Amino acid sequence: ELPSTFEGEVDLGVIGGTGLYHLPCLEKIAVLPPMATPWGYTSSPITISKFIGANGHLHVAFLARHGLDHQLPPTKVPFRANIAALKHLKCKAVLSFSAVGSLQESIKPRDFVLPQQLIDRTKGIRESSYLNEEGLVGHVGFGDPFSESFAKYIYQFRDVLTNEGKPCTLHFDKDKTVVCMEGPQFSTRAESRMYRLLGGDVINMSVIPEAKLARECELPYQMVCMSTDYDAWREDEEPVTVEVVLGHLVNNGRNANALASSVIEAMSHNMPEFMKTGDGLRGSVKMSISTKPE
Ligand code: ADE
Repeated sequence: ELPSTFEGEVDLGVIGGTGLYHLPCLEKIAVLPPMATPWGYTSSPITISKFIGANGHLHVAFLARHGLDHQLPPTKVPFRANIAALKHLKCKAVLSFSAVGSLQESIKPRDFVLPQQLIDRTKGIRESSYLNEEGLVGHVGFGDPFSESFAKYIYQFRDVLTNEGKPCTLHFDKDKTVVCMEGPQFSTRAESRMYRLLGGDVINMSVIPEAKLARECELPYQMVCMSTDYDAWREDEEPVTVEVVLGHLVNNGRNANALASSVIEAMSHNMPEFMKTGDGLRGSVKMSISTKPE
């Protein structure tokens, strides 16, 4: 029976998406019940793990975005509670995983992508800010929604990804763009073609508001997108179905675990600079006190 409390500071927060409900690479030291926050309860219990490295150690907190039984559709995920809980545990960065559809021929099902840009197609539907109350005015830059330092760190371990014994690709460049749609229905063919014209490379239903909230908490954030389908833009192919997505989840889950293990192991030896310094985000949220007219 593991403890249900944890007193120390967590270093890295990991959020698992569809097909990733725990990371077998983590050896748990505590399981916190779903955490109560001013924004409701977290999606799932939070498991805490400890890694001892050559020059230090690392505490990791893991939570499952859609709940342990995948009971939460994208529109119902308590994103604000999840990010607030990781901040409360003193995480220094957030590594998140998400199943995505591919909008580009070169991004094959089972490939992974480290996007550096995003297009929000959920605007106005989700609660996507902590700074949305009367008397609580604040603004934060979001021009570069992900952490390039974090993405580079993850990219070092691209060779761990495999598909039936053969390598699969971890795509990473500064223009790779994830489109976030509301769902839960997948896109029409016309929408899928439109997203390609807009410059989208992959599409999901989860990066917003997670990335925005992490930014408001001044946390370096990087999503690892795990491709499961070609969405609906390919003319001679059936549009995406749940069955197609499910067919790739086991392989993607294994690769996510391998990638996370490598990242966590390396971090446990030496905490990367972007975690120590906050990757330039500390103090970046400008609250009303600094924008109030004289
Ligand atoms: N998640 C996995 N595949 C997807 C797709 N084609 N569209 C939106 N979200 C997805």
